[in-house]
Amino acid sequence: MMFIQEVFMKIAILSVLSLILMACSDDNKQVGKVQQQSGEVKVARSFDFAQINHGGQLFQKNCAVCHGAEAQGTVNWRQPDAEGKFPPPPLNGTAHTWHHSLKVLKDTIKKGTLRLGGNMPPWQDKLSDKDIEDIIAWIQSKWSDEIYAAWYQRQQQSPAQ
Ligand code: HEC
Repeated sequence: MMFIQEVFMKIAILSVLSLILMACSDDNKQVGKVQQQSGEVKVARSFDFAQINHGGQLFQKNCAVCHGAEAQGTVNWRQPDAEGKFPPPPLNGTAHTWHHSLKVLKDTIKKGTLRLGGNMPPWQDKLSDKDIEDIIAWIQSKWSDEIYAAWYQRQQQSPAQ
């Protein structure tokens, strides 16, 4: 009698363990992968709280003055001023920031646009590469899943643009 109960117990434990393992490996397969579901593209996103939190603090300190506390930009960002310079655009996914690869976003933040006749100062002497990556993670946390998925696909196809 004892023996049979033990065998049942072991079978039960083993099935629970294999269910957990299956669930884990399923998750692993999805990270960073694009899933096509009835025409809709989904990308599993990772939200690293420490990174986003750090990036958000740096953004408030250095970038919010121009791009807004929620990265909402200026209302008239499409309208150049008298000198032909554009006001700070939204970075929150409603403008075209998501058209740029991680490389281009980093370069823009590092070098700014003053050298191109724009209004954005360079940050390479004030912020480290890690700081800039953390800020981009915070900016991307403002994007909708759809915008992030569209960015991710472009990133895979043309990582240098
Ligand atoms: C003095 C105002 C100012 C500050 C401060 C500023 N920016 Fe900008 N930023 C701009 C302007 C203006 C543009 C649009 C490009 C242009 O025409 O100069 C821009 C463009 C950008 C772009 C490209 C957006 C796109 O859609 O192509 C990114 C990314 C960006 N800024 C990030 C940042 C980050 C991150 C910080 C803080 C570290 C920052 N900016 C601080 C004014 C500013």
